[in-house]
Amino acid sequence: MIRNIQDEIIRLKKEKNICILAHSYQAAEILEVADYTGDSFQLSLMAQKTDASTVIMCGVRFMAETVKILSPKKKVILANPYAGCPMAEQMDKELISAVKEKYPDYTVVAYINTTAELKTICDVCVTSSSAVNIVNKIDNKNILFIPDCNLGAYVAKQIPDKNIKLLQGGCPTHAKITEEEVYKARKLHPDALLLVHPECRAKVTEEADYVGSTSGIMDFAEKSDKKEFIIGTEISIAEHLQYKCPDKNFYPLSIDLVCNNMKCTTLMDVYNSVRGTAGEEIILDEKTISDAKKCIDKMIELG
Ligand code: 13P
Ligand code: SF4
Repeated sequence: MIRNIQDEIIRLKKEKNICILAHSYQAAEILEVADYTGDSFQLSLMAQKTDASTVIMCGVRFMAETVKILSPKKKVILANPYAGCPMAEQMDKELISAVKEKYPDYTVVAYINTTAELKTICDVCVTSSSAVNIVNKIDNKNILFIPDCNLGAYVAKQIPDKNIKLLQGGCPTHAKITEEEVYKARKLHPDALLLVHPECRAKVTEEADYVGSTSGIMDFAEKSDKKEFIIGTEISIAEHLQYKCPDKNFYPLSIDLVCNNMKCTTLMDVYNSVRGTAGEEIILDEKTISDAKKCIDKMIELG
């Protein structure tokens, strides 16, 4: 039954010139029908390259907004309108405008997990895979990094000569993981390497053998000679890696590492979006698009 729905999605997307983008946290049956899969950075590049007239985003709202900003002439559909990112909604334009007034000589670096509206007043965007490289290249010592204080602290540690100011934001899924869970997982799997996402707290990243974005973690595990890995990011990554490398073993760092927002998109949402009976079209006004684009273009230029 699932196979029939997938076949129909593939048939319809070809017929209608639709490109399906899926973040790596999506379910396997969705990744299988996608044209491109990957982390936030890879998807933002694909959004720029595809020449399909319609793009369906299987991910969360800020990702669909990023596609719209980079491809304003395309019709961009968020497959499930309820899929937001709690971190992206933590800080708004009013709050950051007020903070900027207090720190006028700071470059404002926005994690891509921010709303399009907030990006309009930020200087440069980063993703988890590009953050260290891009902040390093910014020609200002003073950086205001929003909204994720864990990713920001991780970047600050890698680039100690920058003066990085942080606010109290972050990913509720990654930030709830504790060092106690690390000790427990290490005890259960003493031969495994620990790979974690920089959205985790410092006490967790400090214990890791590797810290990186979703695709960084996947590449590391696939290329490594080691056979066992504890995966410190959204639980689906351990599952996808297990399919890709059946001769290795992958253990989620915690069964609480679930992002309900990423999980709410179903194959049927994708099917109905391709048919045109579900999903939400992303509409942004021209000024928001052009102002937010400067922030994303700067990331692509520096990265
Ligand atoms: P990356 O895809 O950049 O690793 O980020 C993970 C994430 O939390 C997506 O919302
Ligand atoms: Fe947002 Fe965290 Fe979910 Fe990523 S995992 S979409 S940052 S809440």
